[in-house]
Amino acid sequence: MKFFIDTANLDQIREANALGILDGVTTNPSLMAKEGIRGEANVLQHYVDICNIVSGDVSAEVLSVDYDGMIAEGVRLAALHPQIVVKVPCTRDGIRAIKWFTDNKIKTNCTLVFTVGQALLAAKAGATYVSPFVGRLDDISSDGIALVAAIVEVFDYYGYDTQVLAASIRTTQHIIQCIEAGADVATCPLSSILGLLNHPLTDKGVEIFVRDAAKME
Ligand code: E4P
Repeated sequence: MKFFIDTANLDQIREANALGILDGVTTNPSLMAKEGIRGEANVLQHYVDICNIVSGDVSAEVLSVDYDGMIAEGVRLAALHPQIVVKVPCTRDGIRAIKWFTDNKIKTNCTLVFTVGQALLAAKAGATYVSPFVGRLDDISSDGIALVAAIVEVFDYYGYDTQVLAASIRTTQHIIQCIEAGADVATCPLSSILGLLNHPLTDKGVEIFVRDAAKME
């Protein structure tokens, strides 16, 4: 399973990249705004800065909600850097735009996916990634991981190449569940990725080995 980091914070992206296990980055307008990025020129430069840190795919989301706007914006974003993946919401105009991007060899991430039906439409339009939102479904007492598992099963059954990118990951346990569900990618906050390292027996084992190593000097 690939690991993307879900942030627009350059320091966190550098920290995750330094681990040597980072496969890409996802951003969204909320994450960009949180970093105080304002104005088109700064937004575009920020995506380039992210691409210069990591070697994998970087999702940059369109702000337009209409088809023509999405196409114009997506073309501009894709031209920024070969690593850019144009992130498009799973709406009627969004699905049409994804089909256009597919036909024009531009990679896409279909975002805000909450049902298997939406995921199937995105796959049929040729999306590179489809992003089911795990945490936001859990927030409304639904089962986000069950959706990830269902999409994986449907894509496997019909042989779609679209990768299942589990998004809205809130916890380390979500990551474990995504692995078990067969997600192709999980995009996670840095804290959830680092949480995978936590085990008291590992800490205790290191402590014992360090103590015993001193006896070997
Ligand atoms: C990433 O692609 C999504 O935009 C992000 O994971 C959404 O996360 P949230 O539901 O925590 O805002």
